[in-house]
Amino acid sequence: MTHLVLAPMEGLVDWRVRQLLSATGGFDLCVTEFIRVSQNLFPAHVFHRYCPELLNGGKTLSGVPVLVQLMGHDPELMGENAVVAVELGAPGIDINFGCPSKTVNKREAGASLLKCPENLYEIVSAVRRAVPDHIPVSAKVRLGYSDKEMFLEIARAVEAGGAQHLTVHARTKMEGYKPPAHWEYLARIREAISIGMTGNGEIWDVADYQKCRDISGCDSFMIGRGAIAAPDLATRIKAFDGGTHLPRESWADVLAKLLSYCDLMAEDGASENHQAGRIKQWMALIRKSHPQGAQCFEEIKRIRAIDELRTKLQHDMSLPENQRTIDLIAAE
Ligand SMILES: Cc1cc2nc3c(=O)[nH]c(=O)nc-3n(C[C@H](O)[C@H](O)[C@H](O)COP(=O)(O)O)c2cc1C
Repeated sequence: MTHLVLAPMEGLVDWRVRQLLSATGGFDLCVTEFIRVSQNLFPAHVFHRYCPELLNGGKTLSGVPVLVQLMGHDPELMGENAVVAVELGAPGIDINFGCPSKTVNKREAGASLLKCPENLYEIVSAVRRAVPDHIPVSAKVRLGYSDKEMFLEIARAVEAGGAQHLTVHARTKMEGYKPPAHWEYLARIREAISIGMTGNGEIWDVADYQKCRDISGCDSFMIGRGAIAAPDLATRIKAFDGGTHLPRESWADVLAKLLSYCDLMAEDGASENHQAGRIKQWMALIRKSHPQGAQCFEEIKRIRAIDELRTKLQHDMSLPENQRTIDLIAAE
């Protein structure tokens, strides 16, 4: 059975989104947004802020394990922080070598480390040495920095450093998030290493999944923006694998998730601005995937008061035409 991982996405996939999407089903693993390790050994509250699931045995409320992701350039400090995360209950540590952010790359972390695979080896092996043997260490890379020439060296450096698992976002740093993702490289990496591997990039629907699986030969996939755009995507992929076709969830179900997200933010004391901003950000991605999303985004994009936004979502949710599931096959 295919293994599905909800992608770490800074500023987009927080514990609340992990809770909502892992409750929807289909995901086997989550990863926190990156925790930037630059010069400190972080105290427990920092890890708890990024990963409150540590207080629940390192799992979401639906029981899906959550890896703590660290990003930094100093091998020893990365190892020391990994130890703290593990002592707090992290079921595994993931290391970020893919972040394209300018600030992060200027300080030699994230994707800039891909320029010299030796860096990857040093950091992975320091983290591996630091944490107990039974704790899995994984790394997330891209195919390279400006070109793909070193894609195999990158993967091999992670394996040689002792990681148990590698996730490959099938683009270079310079390619950012622009399509296409180069799934054919995933197949070549898979053949070159013997540790487990997860393929990532541009899976927006079941057809993309099928194509990526066929081209890459992977049996584990990480889904990022596609899972935010269609929160039930992982369940549909799993159903497809089991030989059944699951219609897309109704628009009302999508709106219900957004309203639950508001509730979780409000319980946590998030400001109205923050709540409204996050809902619009989520809707901006949903419109890529859901027929009603584009119009709804237009209708909410200027609403600032969270009560008004909620009333609008609740109203749309109650409309009978929004409560039907959408049969994608019938629609084609
Ligand atoms: C807004 C945003 C934030 C991201 N933050 C992280 C992060 O914290 N750690 C990480 O490893 N990747 C991060 N990524 C990359 C995603 O995990 C994923 O690799 C990328 O979006 C490609 O997958 P997709 O095409 O399915 O979205 C981020 C991507 C986006 C769009």
